[in-house]
Amino acid sequence: MKFSVRNYRPKDFETLYLIDRACYEPEIAYTRRELRWYLGLPATDCLVAEVRRSAKSMARQIAGFVIVASQKIHGHIITIDVVENLRRAGLGAALLDKAESRLRRRGVHEVWLETATNNNPAIAFWHKHGYRTRGRLRNYYPGGLDAFSMSKPLADSVPVEK
Ligand SMILES: CC(C)(COP(=O)(O)OP(=O)(O)OC[C@H]1O[C@@H](n2cnc3c(N)ncnc32)[C@H](O)[C@@H]1OP(=O)(O)O)[C@@H](O)C(=O)NCCC(=O)NCCS
Repeated sequence: MKFSVRNYRPKDFETLYLIDRACYEPEIAYTRRELRWYLGLPATDCLVAEVRRSAKSMARQIAGFVIVASQKIHGHIITIDVVENLRRAGLGAALLDKAESRLRRRGVHEVWLETATNNNPAIAFWHKHGYRTRGRLRNYYPGGLDAFSMSKPLADSVPVEK
């Protein structure tokens, strides 16, 4: 499947919100306010994956996105979401690869994330991409679900000035 990854544009907001709602249980999915807050954080990158609407059409539709933030040498994956019918086709990997490159350029040495302990597809995805479980965060999500805290060192980061 052909897809491309580009920077987020403000007019994408509602689509990203709806994709996030479709990806998670209602109590875990972001509200519009939360999503807006994450997108507005300093040193945040949001990347969007697009696919062609159909083989005959040149029009594109958003199929997934990733939001990452950084503070000095620490990076954080806020979320990565791919629409259900287009999963396992490499979109997640392409989004993550580009997001990690952005973090490297910002001087990040290590990336952290949280994922629900029952989210087996995501856990497999993170393991495939070199993330290792560092601990368990009890009652991390609304509703009392635990999260795994995971991290990965980023090689070849740009040194950060002190
Ligand atoms: C996690 C997610 C972003 C992966 O996106 P994707 O586009 O399917 O990812 P890719 O196609 O690049 O990679 C797929 C790899 O991830 C792992 N994986 C993904 N779904 C899996 C599943 N259902 N079962 C087992 N492994 C799975 C496998 O290693 C797989 O590789 P393979 O297809 O060669 O076996 C996607 O499943 C998603 O959006 N889930 C809902 C939102 C979410 O949970 N996000 C993560 C929050 S921490």
